[in-house]
Amino acid sequence: MTKVIDGKAFAANVRAQVAAHVARLREEQGIQPGLAVVLVGEDPASQVYVRNKHASTIEVGMASFEHRLSADTREADLLALIAALNADPKVHGILVQLPLPKHLNSDLVINAIDPAKDVDGFHISNVGLLGTGQKSMVPCTPLGCLMMLRDHHGSLAGLNAVVVGRSNIVGKPMAQLLLGDSCTVTIAHSRTKDLAEVCKRADILVAAVGRPEMITGDMVKPGATVIDVGINRIERDGKAKLVGDVHYESAAKVAGAITPVPGGVGPMTIACLLANTLTACCRANSLPEPEGLTA
Ligand code: GUN
Repeated sequence: MTKVIDGKAFAANVRAQVAAHVARLREEQGIQPGLAVVLVGEDPASQVYVRNKHASTIEVGMASFEHRLSADTREADLLALIAALNADPKVHGILVQLPLPKHLNSDLVINAIDPAKDVDGFHISNVGLLGTGQKSMVPCTPLGCLMMLRDHHGSLAGLNAVVVGRSNIVGKPMAQLLLGDSCTVTIAHSRTKDLAEVCKRADILVAAVGRPEMITGDMVKPGATVIDVGINRIERDGKAKLVGDVHYESAAKVAGAITPVPGGVGPMTIACLLANTLTACCRANSLPEPEGLTA
């Protein structure tokens, strides 16, 4: 029987653990973790994400600081806001919602965030720390995937992992995390030769290519664990539908375990953002980090 990994339930459990830790911090230390989210412009999808982040942050008992700036914000003004948030002791995590309007240099903006407050794990220092196996802030989506994989497998040591996709946000950090857990890791992408054959070697197959239903059942090793990071809005039979990068029906017949879309990896991203904010707060105050919520 294929196990369907319930990301919604898993994420609810992570949020409950975060909330319990936050309550203890407030009671015992008088500290409240705070997350600042910066949104520049009116991108509709980003507005939905930011709204959800705000609601989830409040729900676990953290302070939420929202900064909405107009689409024509000057880079110097955005950098000044980040400098103020870096210096604010009530703010333990800073997230600048991407994509930014075209006239703003995302790399420059992200690298202006204090790496200790970079709860997205996108700052070049955190990328380097993760790549060298040092303590860092870890990007939320790959962290969520890692938590679900550890929960399902226990140890990941020695397993063949194939990550399809080489983005800085998911593919590359996912590969680093799997390597950190002693998997044998392959990063495949759109130019990989004989992708089906490469995927079929995987005990763990992570799909993060951004192409609807690209990974089909014939590319999956029997019994493999399939993690689908894709969120693609498509139209089928005249109806809007959300599908992953994996063709769920065919892959689920072959896989040992699989994450659905929706309800798989998606809910884990915000849960891990909250976990990262709590971790950043604990580190800032030289307190023990929450167990099981970091890489
Ligand atoms: N836009 C889409 N996903 C993300 C994310 O994980 N972090 C940020 N900052 N922006 C995003």
